Amino acid sequence: MKKSFTIQSTKELPKVAEALIELMGKANVFAFNGSMGAGKTTFIKVICAALGVENVVNSPTFAIVNEYENPKGDPIFHFDFYRLNTLQEAIDIGFQEYIESGYLCLIEWPEKIENLLPDNCVYVNIHSEDNTELRTIYWEV
Ligand SMILES: Nc1ncnc2c1ncn2[C@@H]1O[C@H](COP(=O)(O)OP(=O)(O)OP(=O)(O)O)[C@@H](O)[C@H]1O
Ligand SMILES: [Mg+2]
Repeated sequence: MKKSFTIQSTKELPKVAEALIELMGKANVFAFNGSMGAGKTTFIKVICAALGVENVVNSPTFAIVNEYENPKGDPIFHFDFYRLNTLQEAIDIGFQEYIESGYLCLIEWPEKIENLLPDNCVYVNIHSEDNTELRTIYWEV
C-alpha cells in the first residue's frame, strides 16, 4: 500500500511522522531517500520528537551513527552515510549488528549501503520542488 503526503511546511511533518510510526511494530529499518536538502534530517528530528526522544537530534557529524533513547530506554540509531567511501566502512562500524538488534534504525543516504539493507526495510522518499517549501513524502509497504 502506498502512502503519500504533500505538505506545504515543516509544521505538517508531525502528522506524517505519526503515519510512519504506525509501521514501527512491523519494521525497524527505515531508509530516507531524497536529494541534498530535501528534508531527511528535519523529518527524522520530528519522528524522534514524536517518539519522546529528549536528546538533540542532528545528523551525525563526526561519526556515521548517532544514538538516542526513547522514554523506555530503548536506543534509536540515526545513520548518515553521506560521507561513506566504501561499503566496508559500514560493515566495520557494525551496521549489520545494528539492524539485527531490532532497534529502530533511521538512515540518511541509504543508497550508499543499498546491499546491506534488509528485505523488510521501509523506503521513505522525500521529494522537494526546487525553491519551494513544498515536499512530497511517500512510502510503500
Ligand atoms: N518538509 C519541509 N518543508 C519545508 N522545508 C523543509 C522541510 N524539511 C526541511 N526543510 C528545510 O530544508 C532544509 C534542509 O533540510 P535537511 O537538513 O533536513 O535536509 P537533508 O535532506 O537532511 O539534507 P542532507 O542531504 O544535506 O542531509 C532546512 O533548511 C529545512 O528547514
Ligand atoms: Mg541530513
